[in-house]
Amino acid sequence: MSAAVVVIGSFNVDHVWTVERLPRPGETLAGRYRSGPGGKGFNQAVAARRAGADTRFACALGRDPGAELALSLAAAEGIEMLALRVDEATGTAGIQVDATGRNSIIVGPGANARLDSAHVAGVADRFEGARVMLAQLETPVDAVMAGFAEARRRGITTILNPAPADAGVPDALWALTDFATPNETEFSMQLERCCGLEVDAETLAARTDASLHTLCRRLLPSGTVVVTLGAAGVFASRPEAARADGGPACLRVAAPRVEAIDTTGAGDAFNGALAAALAAGPDRDLAAVLLDAVRFASLSTEKTGAALSMPHRSELRARFLDPGARP
Ligand code: RIB
Ligand code: NA
Repeated sequence: MSAAVVVIGSFNVDHVWTVERLPRPGETLAGRYRSGPGGKGFNQAVAARRAGADTRFACALGRDPGAELALSLAAAEGIEMLALRVDEATGTAGIQVDATGRNSIIVGPGANARLDSAHVAGVADRFEGARVMLAQLETPVDAVMAGFAEARRRGITTILNPAPADAGVPDALWALTDFATPNETEFSMQLERCCGLEVDAETLAARTDASLHTLCRRLLPSGTVVVTLGAAGVFASRPEAARADGGPACLRVAAPRVEAIDTTGAGDAFNGALAAALAAGPDRDLAAVLLDAVRFASLSTEKTGAALSMPHRSELRARFLDPGARP
């Protein structure tokens, strides 16, 4: 039996325009259009699955073609859906990607906003045997709280990806979080919210390890914080109690050099792969787990799209572990 991961979160149909540069207010630009599956929750579920975990996904869907897309893709990927069906349009996102692979996104939550604690509690028997639970904040915080509370009762490790950046995280949710995985912007916004600290997101990666470690300890004193730094990789900081592997209190893991064409979902790739790696080897050394996840996320940026840009384990093996098989 492979190690199980439960993901709680959003599904969106992504409408993506690829443009030379992002449009300014009042400007009209021509770009290439395509649509595909996305939503931070679904992207993370596909990443966890493709990284090798037996994956279950709790979400809310409408009764429309977007919902059918989610269900058929999940079946094809082998993801078990724990979906609440509601009379509301399935979530959508409008995404613009520029020539350097950067994006801007507008989300229409739709059905995602209807995910609730009653549904999550109602599917809790499907958390049986799971080692890791992963959630983001594109669905109501109450639903995530219900999941994490159940995870605590069952001894399941929790990972909170506090995205999008403007989402509020109640103290009670931080208290149920074992790993927090903000990107630079999310880290800076949450530090301001929780502790009134003003920390510039742009210059974060250039700070010393000691300074980053101090900030992470402020954000989540009792848990591990992994700040994703884009092409600079990740910085991780953990409390004394989480150092069973005897490793250091904080560490950096660099990202491999890749030809990024679309970074949409790269953070999701990291989170899903981190969940899968933690589930597969709870006692593995943190640096090795993070390296797996960073490599996985880096490869996802070489393909366009969100959920479907997640690499398969075979691609990772070919690229990083067998130098003779480099594409
Ligand atoms: O993290 C990327 C995702 O954010 C996209 O797939 C989009 O749906 C938004 O949720
Ligand atoms: Na991608």
